[in-house]
Amino acid sequence: MELSDLQVEPTGSVIGAKVSGINLKNEVSQAVLMELRGLLDQYAVLIFPQQYLSPDEFVRAGRIFGSLLPQQLKKYVLKDQPLVGYNSTSDLPRKNGKLHVRGENYHTDHSNFIEPPRATALVAVEIPEIGGDTQFVDTRLAYDNLSSELKEISTHLFSKHVHQSSRSPRELTKLTQEDLAKIPQTIQPLVIRHPNSGRAALYLNTGRMEGIEGMDDDGAYELIDALYSHAIQQEFEYRHVWSKGEMVIWDNRSVMHQANADYDPEKSRYLYRIMIEGPPIEAFAKNTLKD
Ligand code: SIN
Repeated sequence: MELSDLQVEPTGSVIGAKVSGINLKNEVSQAVLMELRGLLDQYAVLIFPQQYLSPDEFVRAGRIFGSLLPQQLKKYVLKDQPLVGYNSTSDLPRKNGKLHVRGENYHTDHSNFIEPPRATALVAVEIPEIGGDTQFVDTRLAYDNLSSELKEISTHLFSKHVHQSSRSPRELTKLTQEDLAKIPQTIQPLVIRHPNSGRAALYLNTGRMEGIEGMDDDGAYELIDALYSHAIQQEFEYRHVWSKGEMVIWDNRSVMHQANADYDPEKSRYLYRIMIEGPPIEAFAKNTLKD
């Protein structure tokens, strides 16, 4: 395929674009690779319809965007292709007949890593007819629309990100003491600088943020809650309704995402999942040091 075959159609929401005219099973030229990386920086969520990738094909397609990061939760990894994880209805606990979905509540992936994944991608293998959408909010736009007072306050602050915050609104996968000992924790800025575009974005993950450095807990969680409820407003959102065979990739430095447990627990929802390596998170404020 030629670069000129690519068709890019913005979703009509503030973020996201559908990319067609490409078969991700095939090798892509350097020009197409550079174009796709640039589109991810710009639109933050890219949707590739009708790709029907096998796990190995998904790994190859993912490498267009960078090297693959090994999956953290080894129990949700494909035996034959350990770089590929999966989200499957059949693994999910039920509470009062309702599904408890991994990834509910807006978050960014593995923010407790020193080098969190630059991007995450899913391939839809089985999708329920109704429900199970994935929502994304643009954390760059959320930052741009903060009051100047909140921008000023948050730009020089840092939070410790741990496996599971003591105030987490969502239940994360329970880990053994041994696994927990291997999980990193790190200090991350509240406002980050995008490694390619240089744009500022809020960096929030209420499931993992353990207070704010130098603030008492009451003030810290009040500020986290204020930033979080600002960032998840519908005006910053793109809601993706899945179709079988699609690949969707998103930029973890520009969006938060959340899964939805609103579908029939008897229906299968099964997606392959990969992550792309990223550089360490950088604070937006140039004169602010992480440590
Ligand atoms: C996630 O990675 O948080 C899950 C997204 C989804 O299954 O919709």
